Amino acid sequence: MHPLELSGADLRDMLRRTADKLAPFLDSLPQQPVSNTEGGRKLARRLMEPCPETGVPFSRLLAQITDQIVPTSLNTASPGYLAFIPGGGLPHAAVADLITGVTNRFTGIWMPAPGLVQTEIAVLRWMCGWVGYGSEAGGTLTSGGSLATLSAFVAARERGFRRVYTTELVHHCAAKAARIADMPVTIVPMDSEHRMRPDAIGDEPGVVIASAGTTALGNVDPIAELADSCEGRHWFHVDGAYGGCFVLTERGRRALAGIERADSILLDPHKGLFLPYGTGALLVKDRSALREAFRSEASYLPDPVDGDDFWDFTDLGPELSRPTRGLRLWLPLKMHGVGAFRDALDEKLDLAEDAARRVAALPHVRMVAGPDLSLFAFRIEPPGHPDHDGLTRRVLARVNQKQRVFLTGATVGGAFVGRVCVLSFRTHQDRIDALVADLAEAIADPRG
Ligand SMILES: Cc1ncc(COP(=O)(O)O)c(C=O)c1O
Repeated sequence: MHPLELSGADLRDMLRRTADKLAPFLDSLPQQPVSNTEGGRKLARRLMEPCPETGVPFSRLLAQITDQIVPTSLNTASPGYLAFIPGGGLPHAAVADLITGVTNRFTGIWMPAPGLVQTEIAVLRWMCGWVGYGSEAGGTLTSGGSLATLSAFVAARERGFRRVYTTELVHHCAAKAARIADMPVTIVPMDSEHRMRPDAIGDEPGVVIASAGTTALGNVDPIAELADSCEGRHWFHVDGAYGGCFVLTERGRRALAGIERADSILLDPHKGLFLPYGTGALLVKDRSALREAFRSEASYLPDPVDGDDFWDFTDLGPELSRPTRGLRLWLPLKMHGVGAFRDALDEKLDLAEDAARRVAALPHVRMVAGPDLSLFAFRIEPPGHPDHDGLTRRVLARVNQKQRVFLTGATVGGAFVGRVCVLSFRTHQDRIDALVADLAEAIADPRG
């Protein structure tokens, strides 16, 4: 057999060896340090090597990957990871990826793999239902929020909305997408609570982006009022990359009221539905907007499958060949039911509320924002201290040194804030207790 051909027995052997490494990794996650980036440069330099002419045995490479390459990192799968926007990474999705990778079906268009494509259509239809969209709606799964944002902008631009209106707190992928799509950006003023002012949007037709939870502060723009303000004038886009999936919960539904009036919505399943990195979702109220923007023909492709039930994903986004993305979402949703996801998201809301209340009660803490959902921001400001920015940074660094939780900050209006974002399905009450204890200690002695 040619060496590149793997027999069934060899595959089974590779999977068994891999599982023998991954099973203890999963089981020991709560005990693992939440960050371990020391020696990262040295490790990276060691990997700058020429491509080998001949092969290295799998067992050696597996050991290198799992014992050296992966562990030198922020442990984004840890329950203590409260930085940036967590998610955790459901291993079920990785199993789905294994199946789609080994079977290697083509899902850029519908015809070559109707079943697999339909799993993607199914999860998109489910998500459209969650946000309150009707049967005309549709969407596409992308590599993440950034590509979904770009696709939304292009769809809006093709309908004549050629400017972008948003606040300075919008995720930077919006500025990037605007640059790629060649759309000028107008920054709309915010109110005293860092929310977009619906009365301050300009008149030239454009895409208005509301944040359903900003990355820096977690605050939600006034979605229903913005929808009123956009009616008949602007394309209304809701960036729900961080917070959109909370529509599954009752409290989230209240915080995001009016989201169903948006022309397009970004959800990031690799955040709010806990998937491993690699899946964003763009939902549009009127599916034909995507088709108008992205449809293109080629004589070597089969006839398109137009219609309500079956979709060619190449007509709904910029890609043709693409990873099969539906199954990694379909499998965990089918295995657990959406109720398990709703419960997990509800738990995150409870944990963030508890954490924010207890952090606010620590000495010298000034709460800057929230939690509107599961993210809040704070500063350490002892009266008379000359450098609140520096002190807040030092406190965060001290907390992170303890390696039970990992926090990151952001600069808002020139001031540095610490943030806590609770969104991993693995984060539970014990980790919030650790956060509060470590923060209290760090505030008492920021130098260690
Ligand atoms: C609010 C918000 N929008 C968009 C994005 C971009 O998403 P992605 O990283 O999936 O491209 C992020 C990422 O953190 C985000 O927090």
